[in-house]
Amino acid sequence: MTEQNIDYRRAYQRERFARDELESLLEAQTRRLFEANTELQEKVDMLEKQKVLILKTEKMATLGTLAAGVAHEINNPLAYVSSNLESLFDFNESLVGLLTIANELVNDGSIDPKLRERLQKLQKPVSFQFMSEDIEDIGQDVQEGVRRIASIVSNLLSFSRPKESKSENVDLAQVLISILKLAASQLRSVAVTTDIKEVRKTYCNADALGQVILNLLLNAKDACESESSRPSQISIKLYDNEKNIVLKVTDNGIGMSEETVTRVFEPFFTTKAVGKGTGMGMAIVYGFIEEHDGQIEIDSKLGVGTEITVKLPVREGQS
Ligand SMILES: Nc1ncnc2c1ncn2[C@@H]1O[C@H](COP(=O)(O)OP(=O)(O)OP(=O)(O)O)[C@@H](O)[C@H]1O
Ligand SMILES: [Mg+2]
Repeated sequence: MTEQNIDYRRAYQRERFARDELESLLEAQTRRLFEANTELQEKVDMLEKQKVLILKTEKMATLGTLAAGVAHEINNPLAYVSSNLESLFDFNESLVGLLTIANELVNDGSIDPKLRERLQKLQKPVSFQFMSEDIEDIGQDVQEGVRRIASIVSNLLSFSRPKESKSENVDLAQVLISILKLAASQLRSVAVTTDIKEVRKTYCNADALGQVILNLLLNAKDACESESSRPSQISIKLYDNEKNIVLKVTDNGIGMSEETVTRVFEPFFTTKAVGKGTGMGMAIVYGFIEEHDGQIEIDSKLGVGTEITVKLPVREGQS
């Protein structure tokens, strides 16, 4: 090999070495860039999600304030409507008696014609007989309506202002077991399986917590009843981990559409028939979890079922 050839070969090797080095450097850089890009994309996705959550929380907070305002406004007149209705009911027996007498008189040929004429005028829209027969039903309907309004108002109040004042150290397992007993007759049509572990106590309002659990169970039952193609099943799990107490309610009911999932916590959002659902159940659940700094996850598929996971951080309270 000539000296020139050797030089040429060395130069070639040097150049090749440099090219290899450059290539591997480029490859490493590209990999880093790719990883950074993936990370960035994940961050963008997470921020998007958080934005939706923030918007939702703001919306719920506004709804909460609105709900509290409306509930307070309705509460006062409702209180006097209820108490006056009670008094009206006390008069009921006398009123029915008077109407029966008036009915007898108006059909009595021997009474003063002027009195009969006055009585007949009073019968113009409906007869005394009809009034005396109907007055009880009307009263009961009104009472039922007032009872329903009162329950909506109290639901609205517990959504917007969970009753912190009655908080204590609560054993969620105990609350869950007593709610299951309470709802046993309503859950008769469903096979309920439970896996209830011992969990730490958390400082909260036991009544409000009971309401949350009941709402989740009744929703699961309603969802099962709307799906008749398979035997209904609800599974309830309770356990705790380092951070949270976790309650999972799973049903194989009708499931939720995407729209329902996004609107499920809105007060008065319901897909149930008029008079069947008020749409306040999940709003109350939300109010409680929010107040407790907890989380709720919904995993639902139309026609398959729903799994709702509630995570409540263990809260140390005054003993
Ligand atoms: N487990 C579930 N499976 C399917 N849909 C559900 C489930 N839980 C809630 N939903 C949907 O969310 C809607 C709102 O639920 P929410 O409990 O707030 O009101 P509701 O059950 O309709 O009325 P109520 O005030 O009597 O509870 C329901 O109408 C239903 O469409
Ligand atoms: Mg409900």
